[in-house]
Amino acid sequence: MEFTAPGKVILFGEHAVVYGQPAIAVPLSELRARAWVEPTRDGAGLVIHARDLGQRLTLGGDPAHQFSVAAQAVLARAGAPEPNATINLESAIPSAAGMGSSAATSTAICRALAAHLGTELSANTVSNIVFQAERGTPSGIDNTVVAHEEPVWFISGKPPRPFRSPARCHLVLGNTGIAASTGELVAGVRKRHDADPRLYDGYFAAIGALVRDARAALKEGELARVGELMDANHELLNTIGVGHSRLDELVTIARDAGALGAKLTGKGGGGNMVALTEGADGQAAVAQALTEAGYTAYETAFGGAT
Ligand code: PMV
Repeated sequence: MEFTAPGKVILFGEHAVVYGQPAIAVPLSELRARAWVEPTRDGAGLVIHARDLGQRLTLGGDPAHQFSVAAQAVLARAGAPEPNATINLESAIPSAAGMGSSAATSTAICRALAAHLGTELSANTVSNIVFQAERGTPSGIDNTVVAHEEPVWFISGKPPRPFRSPARCHLVLGNTGIAASTGELVAGVRKRHDADPRLYDGYFAAIGALVRDARAALKEGELARVGELMDANHELLNTIGVGHSRLDELVTIARDAGALGAKLTGKGGGGNMVALTEGADGQAAVAQALTEAGYTAYETAFGGAT
């Protein structure tokens, strides 16, 4: 049996979320990681086979790898010894692109292993295990939205609040194709913040204020306003130094094709742009414009009547 987990899109508040500001993220259910377990012969131990990377990890050989850390946590939780089994892993989520690939792959592994051991893990437990396995000091937004697979209003250290939008929101992501490291970008912001805390705390507060406005606008179904706030968030992300000329180019293509608003999503410095469009027709138009310009586009939607 196969276990899957979605990617994610941060709609508002990345980076500022590391400094205690709220953020809004939604699942990217169309792109998923999947894992399934095959029992193996006695003495083989647990092997994690990342098939896309052609990589095989063992708990003993790679104990610090995030997948091993997550698997160990599931074993501890289940009170089970290391089984003789291979966890196969595949993912359609581009890595290092701000789409939640790391949280989604760990989540799929946890679910597949727990089921193999006959243990049930709540979404909260999976989210906590995946958080502990992540490298660096992430805010926790990725594991939360991926494990719960619903839009969330997120403040670091507080219980996540599921988020409802009465209006259907259509999104397009455009991939710059440039890989970026979350750790490096977060560290760069930290350095600039520490050099001038008052200035940067002001930027983060401005981002937090617009995230709150965005929640209100989403609840009211005022999508034009949501789009404006995405544009404003993009400018602030450029101001704190996580932009990239290629991201600005994708934002311009999306806006010229009729998007209500567009911004970088996730770490920035490359990775993906996200645009909010006017309905499914607007979504198709923006995706087409990005594709014609030579970029990979992904479409997703959330909210509305379910
Ligand atoms: O790894 P990404 O691209 O999804 O970025 C994570 C979002 C940040 O706010 C930049 C970092 C964090 O831990 O929240």
